[in-house]
Amino acid sequence: MALKQAKVITVTSVKGGTGKTTFTLSLVGILANKNLKTIIVDMDLHSGVIAPTLNLKETKDIYTLVNDYMNHGLKELEEYITKYNNYIDVLPAPKDPRSVGKISSYYIENILKKLKYMYDVILIDTNHIIDDINLITFDNSDEILYVITSDLMDLRNMKTMIAIYNDMNLDNYHIVLNEAISKQSLDLYTINSFLGRNIDYILSNNSYIKNINKLIMNGKIATLEKGYQKETELFTKIIDNILK
Ligand SMILES: Nc1ncnc2c1ncn2[C@@H]1O[C@H](COP(=O)(O)OP(=O)(O)OP(=O)(O)O)[C@@H](O)[C@H]1O
Ligand SMILES: [Mg+2]
Repeated sequence: MALKQAKVITVTSVKGGTGKTTFTLSLVGILANKNLKTIIVDMDLHSGVIAPTLNLKETKDIYTLVNDYMNHGLKELEEYITKYNNYIDVLPAPKDPRSVGKISSYYIENILKKLKYMYDVILIDTNHIIDDINLITFDNSDEILYVITSDLMDLRNMKTMIAIYNDMNLDNYHIVLNEAISKQSLDLYTINSFLGRNIDYILSNNSYIKNINKLIMNGKIATLEKGYQKETELFTKIIDNILK
């Protein structure tokens, strides 16, 4: 069990399909390589794919946990967690999306608070929707990473989000530009000028994970595999900066 409270890192975006889940899985490999006990919480409640991507044959998920919590109180949290390896655990998204509406943010917050005493790092994958669940997740995060592409709609939504953070006097977020899957190639100066703020990290074409479908078929994490040195450099830098 971790002595200190876990660092909570949330990966989110302002548009779907920007590479959040792939990025989350790349980060968890780096954390495991550093022997940090980490749980991935799949808060993409309607369509989370962390468990199937890692080939986990789990039986319990966030919904079964919240449902039992509502009826009997929060007892054996460990029973709802699925192990990937010695350092990586997963709390999977609900298998049945129809159950998502029954999950209230009140329970999510209490579960996160309890997990903080069990891990070194809580890594949360989300969807891009601003709803109660994501807002409570952000409130309980030390670090929020926005994965964006150079798509103009993506940049526009990010600009709005930057204004909201400024308005709330919050700056516990960083922006990651996923150039590896961006269709438009705007130069960085144009992007930074448009946002009125600098991009913090760029996933360049060097971070394009080759044979990604093969990794997914086999439940493998690129940053735990041999042959992905180049791709892992930036992920390591990001984790080092966050944990500093
Ligand atoms: N660094 C990368 N290298 C190779 N392929 C990538 C990379 N990042 C993302 N992809 C591919 O881009 C697609 C979208 O990625 P991903 O599912 O991670 O995005 P997402 O933001 O989690 O999507 P959603 O909003 O639906 O949850 C996937 O097909 C994924 O394999
Ligand atoms: Mg995703």
